[in-house]
Amino acid sequence: MIVSHRQTAANTYRLRVECPDIAAAAVAGQFAMLRIADRIDPLLGRPLAVYDTYRGADDDVPRGERSERRFADFVYVAHGRFTTALKDLGPGERMTLWGPLGNGYSDVPSSGHLLLVAGGIGQTALLTLGRDRAAAGEKVTFCWGASRGAAFGDVDDFRRAGLDVHLATLDGSTGKQGTVIDLLDDLFPREGGDKATPRSGAAETNAPRHVACCGPDGMMAAVSRWSEGRGLGCHVSLEAPMACGIGICFTCVARVKDAEGGWDYKRTCIEGPVFAATSIDWS
Ligand SMILES: Cc1cc2nc3c(=O)[nH]c(=O)nc-3n(C[C@H](O)[C@H](O)[C@H](O)COP(=O)(O)OP(=O)(O)OC[C@H]3O[C@@H](n4cnc5c(N)ncnc54)[C@H](O)[C@@H]3O)c2cc1C
Ligand code: FES
Repeated sequence: MIVSHRQTAANTYRLRVECPDIAAAAVAGQFAMLRIADRIDPLLGRPLAVYDTYRGADDDVPRGERSERRFADFVYVAHGRFTTALKDLGPGERMTLWGPLGNGYSDVPSSGHLLLVAGGIGQTALLTLGRDRAAAGEKVTFCWGASRGAAFGDVDDFRRAGLDVHLATLDGSTGKQGTVIDLLDDLFPREGGDKATPRSGAAETNAPRHVACCGPDGMMAAVSRWSEGRGLGCHVSLEAPMACGIGICFTCVARVKDAEGGWDYKRTCIEGPVFAATSIDWS
């Protein structure tokens, strides 16, 4: 059941649903499939990242153990059949959810300095990863790019989670003017070596050692190249269209390279959505 629903940015909404099974079990990078209960249009569920989880319906920061949480937040851009119908629903209305689904970020190594990179609505897959790693003592830098400043919502969630936040917009209305790659180049210009090194002259140990990324495919491909060019490992969370979310229909497949130089189709809902960036065939 929906307990709250509010607009957070241009055409962007934050939905809180009572779903104890999902809230208590979800780990960073997992998603759920959502449907509006008792409606047949759209018939198929849609995948949304589990943005955050809470013990109380009115909590504004997570408290207590994950296993005690009953509510999950989802943040989405209203653009298609499901999301434009969803945005008009209010508290008390019923949803059908299944999850948590997918592999999450369990393969992202603890590196001492994790760089999170989001494009568009991709921040939804990164908040809990950043908070978990910051709480464990890792430095976490969060770079978020969007077309314009009005697209950024609840940026303070990331600051409260202990992340070092940097923003970029194509129109320059908020943060650095340019793409998120321009922002990364600005923060971590290459200085001859093969590691990203901060411009400030800070110690080399302050440079990121691994990247986790979520956003549009073109942006993730660019972040993958950026990371590879600096010798950094990178994981991406793919936003493939999905019909079942549980491995049956194969609508969500991505071309994933193997160690022998070949490739195979992998299901984003089961083997993903998080993959090593170098394993993805971006062509
Ligand atoms: C693992 C996973 C996690 C996801 N998490 C989120 C999330 O947290 N928040 C979120 O908003 N979306 C998320 N998505 C994407 C979301 O599931 C799709 O955008 C979904 O299609 C929305 O359903 P819809 O019925 O509203 O749009 P549809 O009717 O299915 O799509 C309509 C059209 O819009 C296009 N489109 C897709 N994304 C966008 C966009 N951002 N802006 C404009 N056009 C677009 C599609 O290509 C399609 O042609 C996630 C996807 C995956 C696989
Ligand atoms: S969505 Fe059906 S197999 Fe992945």
